[in-house]
Amino acid sequence: MLAVVGALAVAGVLGVLGLAWWDSRLPGTYAVMDYGTLDYGGGQVAAHAHGGVSTADLRGPGGKPDRRFTLTARKATVRLASGRTVDALTFDGRVPGPELRVRQGDLVEVTLLNEDVERGVSIHWHGVDVPNAEDGVSGVTQDAVEPGGRHVYRFRAEQVGTFWYHTHQSSAKDVRRGLFGAFVIEPREDDPDMLDLALVAHHVGGVAALNSADGVSRRSVPAGTPVRLRIVNADGTPQRFTVAGTRFRVVAVDGTDLNGPTPIENRTLELAGGGRYDVTFTMPTETVGFAIADEQTGLALSPDGKAGLPAASAGPELDLARYGRPGTTPFGASTRFDRTFTFEIGRKPGFLDGRPGMHWTINGGIFPDVPVFVVERGDLVKVTIANDTGSVHPMHLHGHHVLVLSRNGVAVSGSPWWSDTLDVEPDERYDVAFRADNPGLWMDHCHNLPHAAEGLTMHLVYAGVSTPFTVGGASHNHPE
Ligand code: C2O
Ligand code: CU
Repeated sequence: MLAVVGALAVAGVLGVLGLAWWDSRLPGTYAVMDYGTLDYGGGQVAAHAHGGVSTADLRGPGGKPDRRFTLTARKATVRLASGRTVDALTFDGRVPGPELRVRQGDLVEVTLLNEDVERGVSIHWHGVDVPNAEDGVSGVTQDAVEPGGRHVYRFRAEQVGTFWYHTHQSSAKDVRRGLFGAFVIEPREDDPDMLDLALVAHHVGGVAALNSADGVSRRSVPAGTPVRLRIVNADGTPQRFTVAGTRFRVVAVDGTDLNGPTPIENRTLELAGGGRYDVTFTMPTETVGFAIADEQTGLALSPDGKAGLPAASAGPELDLARYGRPGTTPFGASTRFDRTFTFEIGRKPGFLDGRPGMHWTINGGIFPDVPVFVVERGDLVKVTIANDTGSVHPMHLHGHHVLVLSRNGVAVSGSPWWSDTLDVEPDERYDVAFRADNPGLWMDHCHNLPHAAEGLTMHLVYAGVSTPFTVGGASHNHPE
């Protein structure tokens, strides 16, 4: 008798597991929004919104471009400053790829060519809120560009600031292998005397590098020169930086100026994976060192260009929630939001596409059992992001910047803090808000890209928008 009950119990458990396994398997190809559960955030969707707008039609403007670039994706062996060589995937044979600089208002046209990257390539303009069809996500806004293929991106550069670009095809593997670069939008009028440097921090072959320098680089800068360092963290995990030898200000975060940033010194800057800080100072007579904390990688600026990195004291971390002065914002804690969403990150045992293991969850479900946030154009949207895991997650919403309202229930008391890549630490909870002003189908994911590939990804869709592109094992599109 007992044996029979036992056998039945085992069969029952196996049956439940088998069903869970069967249910978790993804089809060969599917549209990202056909999976998961539509979540309206407590709002309505007007009947007229069920039109049929394709992501592919939400293009950038036509007309003659002000700036034209071509980026060619190809395999290359790159030589770092130390002489080390690395087999990489590159844009134009370099890691990082060429720094693209444009001016505010420019109509930018970039032609992507893929010479020989077998998995395919695309270009996502991280932090630039481009029209949806220009967003460069394979399987969502375009097909991945196969070897021999091309794709043209067009958008108007409206947001002044520091951004970056990277492939969004097999991104967990191929961004790390080198398919990224800096993208800077300069203001219409800028200071011609300014030394303005974009510094992309990343790890290549396990070694820390700033641009292509895996060690200390030196540069001669006359005292009195205004300096702007545009720091990009192209890694998926937080990176810490030090500035030694001068007081400095953090004047912009994620491509948006801060209000009233005060001079600071001996403060460590911790950037989210994918995040950017702009630092300014006036060159003193002594040496200034900018370095990746705890690494022998950095930039030494001195009047004669011969000095090495000065010793840095890694002081307390700068807290953006309390830095700078409050300013006006289009919405805030007392706004009545049209929709309110929760994005709760967890981890539990289960099946991800048939694979058993501990997996990330969003609102309790394992991908693709995750929400799809539905909005309408014009909505004011609030999202609560909660991290119930032991890992930090740099959360990145495409196509929009979010205003950080509060962290762990404490309102932001410094400058308005607009972010596109927000580090959410274990047990942290953020309230953020944005206006839905850029119609399309947008990824919302962890920028620790292996996490995204392990299911920490979902989508925001405007009512009535759908995609003609598909992802899945049998398609060539693998955005993560
Ligand atoms: Cu920088 Cu979805 O990416
Ligand atoms: Cu993550």
